[in-house]
Amino acid sequence: MSVWAVLAAAGSGERLGEGRPKAFAPLGGLPLLAESLERLERSEWIEGIVIAAPPGWEEPTILLAEEIGAGKVSVCVPGGSSRSRSVSLALDEVPAGASVVLVHDAARPLLPDEVIERVLAPLSAGWDGAVPVLAVTDTIKRVRGDAVVETLPRAELVVAQTPQAFVAAVLRGALAGGAEASDCASLVEAAGGRVRAVPGDPRLLKVTTRADLELVSSWR
Ligand code: CTP
Ligand code: MG
Repeated sequence: MSVWAVLAAAGSGERLGEGRPKAFAPLGGLPLLAESLERLERSEWIEGIVIAAPPGWEEPTILLAEEIGAGKVSVCVPGGSSRSRSVSLALDEVPAGASVVLVHDAARPLLPDEVIERVLAPLSAGWDGAVPVLAVTDTIKRVRGDAVVETLPRAELVVAQTPQAFVAAVLRGALAGGAEASDCASLVEAAGGRVRAVPGDPRLLKVTTRADLELVSSWR
């Protein structure tokens, strides 16, 4: 199994409001992006890495990779206008020889190697993809305007995280038509792929707001 990682880091970080892309928000003295990049670099499962950088930030991204000794980074591409587009542009730079692609959000800096192992395992057992999930603890309702129209059955609901792993050809096919979604697994599901849910990790919290950044910083 030849595993390549795509690191989605091209977002603008509007909700964090740092005045610079979220990937370059400071975390423990380095840009946020450095944390997940270091962990992918150290992981024995990962052969190469392609980064989707915030447009205009390709050079600082390459310099950062050099600074932390992330020699597995082969290319850094400017990202697109949506997450799906950024992943697609990075995927175009993943060599044809890669059989599996692991897609990870730079916004989830604390990436445990056990989770990488957990999402890769189902791919050897015939699954098209795997996604780390956490149980939902709140009750989830659908609302239209101010009106509650439905309460969803909580026992069936989970929260999806990254890293998500896919058979490379399946992911390429799912992204080919320019489809958009907030994660890659939903595109693979929509294309008829079989995606396995595996246990996620609360440390994989996605940094969205200032409070998330402080939490993640305290967990490092
Ligand atoms: N992402 C990306 N390209 C985009 C948008 C998002 O690569 N055009 C990445 C982000 O860098 C992040 C992940 O997708 O690692 C999840 O996106 P999100 O948390 O929404 O980050 P931002 O879009 O940067 O934040 P915001 O929505 O607050 O602007
Ligand atoms: Mg966003």
